[in-house]
Amino acid sequence: MTQETGKPCGEFLEARDKSGNTITVFQYGEDTIPAMKGLLDIMNPQQHMPQLREMEARDDDIVVCAPVKAGTHWVWEILTMLTRGTTEYATGPKEDTMLEFRSVDKLNALTSPRVLNTHLRLSNLPKQLIEKKCKLIFVVRNPKDTVVSMYNHMSAKGSAFAYKGSFDEFISMFMSEVVPHNQWTRYMTGWEHDLAFNSDIPRHIIYYEDLKQNPFHEIKKLASYLNVTCTDAFVDDMVEKCSFVNLKEGKTNRPDNKRWQFMYRKGEVGDWKTWFTVAQNEVFDEYLTKEMEHSKFNFKYTI
Ligand code: A3P
Repeated sequence: MTQETGKPCGEFLEARDKSGNTITVFQYGEDTIPAMKGLLDIMNPQQHMPQLREMEARDDDIVVCAPVKAGTHWVWEILTMLTRGTTEYATGPKEDTMLEFRSVDKLNALTSPRVLNTHLRLSNLPKQLIEKKCKLIFVVRNPKDTVVSMYNHMSAKGSAFAYKGSFDEFISMFMSEVVPHNQWTRYMTGWEHDLAFNSDIPRHIIYYEDLKQNPFHEIKKLASYLNVTCTDAFVDDMVEKCSFVNLKEGKTNRPDNKRWQFMYRKGEVGDWKTWFTVAQNEVFDEYLTKEMEHSKFNFKYTI
């Protein structure tokens, strides 16, 4: 915070695993944003975050709020299909509508209805999104599949994170104070608190595992929340187009979207069982029990 204004001004920190592998992050108020070279070249977060807070919202904006690796790309694609009334894939990537990584000018240039998306906390979202009661969709995924997905994302070829540590070292960073892109338990409990204490914010909570298990039903619920009328045949077609294999192929065969291929890795529930050792699982369970003690989220580790 600055003493004069009381507003967060932000600072650069190092997220560090137990072997000393580091990732540079930008801490701004309640949020931690990755800030490695490559991402920082896109934008200066010190300038961007205050501008974002003042950004003009539109009545028909909808916002996907999700912790990293919860299935944001998947839900975003479904929402763009529902709001545009077509089962064609959106031509651009989800990243083009991401609040923390796109300039306000670029966000302003998007055509309505906008499906915005973010990993930020409520306190850093554009104020008008809340004032105008724009619809919010919050995505939940079990933390074990999430940490596996994060590790693979951050160490993938083509990922700006270029993380070099092992899975074990990554878990140690996940459970530490400073992490790339928001500390997961704090993010989840923080949002849970914010939603409970802001009951007038329109919200729909969707679980990755439910969407995987029964996509037709979950898409119908999303349509109803958005007041979109669609036939069963349309929803059937969406289910087909948004299956893991079809979405990966359909989105990343375009030259401008190829670089995002690593975002679509395996798309399963329970892959964590092939990654965690018994010992890691015990430590992780103990950590979650303590950190999520008061949470009402009902995580599903298998379907
Ligand atoms: P995995 O790494 O476990 O495969 P996000 O979009 O928030 O970055 O989340 C990415 C995760 O969602 C990845 O998980 C990715 O494979 C998965 N995903 C993307 N599209 C999907 C789909 N159509 N069905 C199921 N999972 C999907």
